[in-house]
Amino acid sequence: MKKQVLTGIKPTGKVHLGNYIGAIKPALELARQESYQPAYFVADYHGLTKIHNKEEMNELSRGIAATWLALGLDPSKAIFYRQSDVPEIFELSWILACFSPKGLMNRAHAYKALAEGNAQAGKEADTGVNMGLFTYPILMASDILLFQTEVVPVGKDQIQHVEIARDIAESFNHTYGVTFTLPHYIVEKETAVLPGLDGRKMSKSYNNTIPLFEEPKKLQKLINKIKTDSSPPAAPKNPDDSIIFSLYKEFASEAKADEMKNRFQSGIGWGEAKKELFEVMNEFLEEPREKYRELMDSPEKLNEILMDGAEKARKKTRPFLQEVKRKIGILHS
Ligand code: ADP
Ligand code: TRP
Repeated sequence: MKKQVLTGIKPTGKVHLGNYIGAIKPALELARQESYQPAYFVADYHGLTKIHNKEEMNELSRGIAATWLALGLDPSKAIFYRQSDVPEIFELSWILACFSPKGLMNRAHAYKALAEGNAQAGKEADTGVNMGLFTYPILMASDILLFQTEVVPVGKDQIQHVEIARDIAESFNHTYGVTFTLPHYIVEKETAVLPGLDGRKMSKSYNNTIPLFEEPKKLQKLINKIKTDSSPPAAPKNPDDSIIFSLYKEFASEAKADEMKNRFQSGIGWGEAKKELFEVMNEFLEEPREKYRELMDSPEKLNEILMDGAEKARKKTRPFLQEVKRKIGILHS
């Protein structure tokens, strides 16, 4: 039996290097291993907690799908779908909501951060919080548990959500006997948090991202914007303390990364280091960028792939949901 691995990305912004290194790259590496059955998806209904514009939702959602494929996800091997095309997820989400203590949601970090921010600004705690955002972790638990997922590759900030999924599963299992598989998260250790242009976590919320499929010229410009100190070119630099090196080693071969490490230690100008970073990144991204553009230009083809994926997903989710419903006494056969 293959191990089920599952992860989703919500369409709330252009995919950036942090998303790639923290979530997509490790997920693609697992998908290549024979012992795993991957289910990777576009979490469009999670995106709806934030994106309330038709064109934007459509464009961003296609963008996530095209990104997965452009980076090498093989839809004939993986189950690759749009969350909104698998209605069983939403049915299970309600069932799980009835096993989710409200207090657990109060403690979920996205909601908590908003509520605390509101309090600090002297506003009512729940200002700007919709119920989709508040119950976000339940829908995510449903994504995970419906596929009997064992492994969830995510960035560090999503650990809490996977733990919530486990808690909900345990609570259900406790009442009805073992039903849901308890999921584990996997976090890419070395780059658990990739820094952005200003040194804080790269995030669309901070406006400090490098979009993955940026045109070469723009890419170069963004790399030039990376914050560095004022040490002179000849001064030795600590590679482990540098955003430029953190990025470089993600795209270069091990040998090249070692070489760059030495150059940092013996002194390299920031301008030179940035130029080298651009080259290695651009070389890696050229082909996927082209593929991404092709897919974005053929929405029908993209849609067909996703609909096929949803059909595959539902073959798996329909019978399992029936089993769950039977356990709770909703189906009487
Ligand atoms: P953002 O912070 O830009 O809003 P998301 O919350 O949509 O990004 O994250 C999508 C996935 O990418 C998650 O698994 C998240 O943990 C991962 N991720 C996002 N930013 C980074 C980063 N700077 N370093 C590592 N992983 C990241
Ligand atoms: N919440 C995740 C994020 O913001 C996206 C997501 C939705 C997800 N459902 C999931 C990730 C299930 C892993 C498993 O990045």
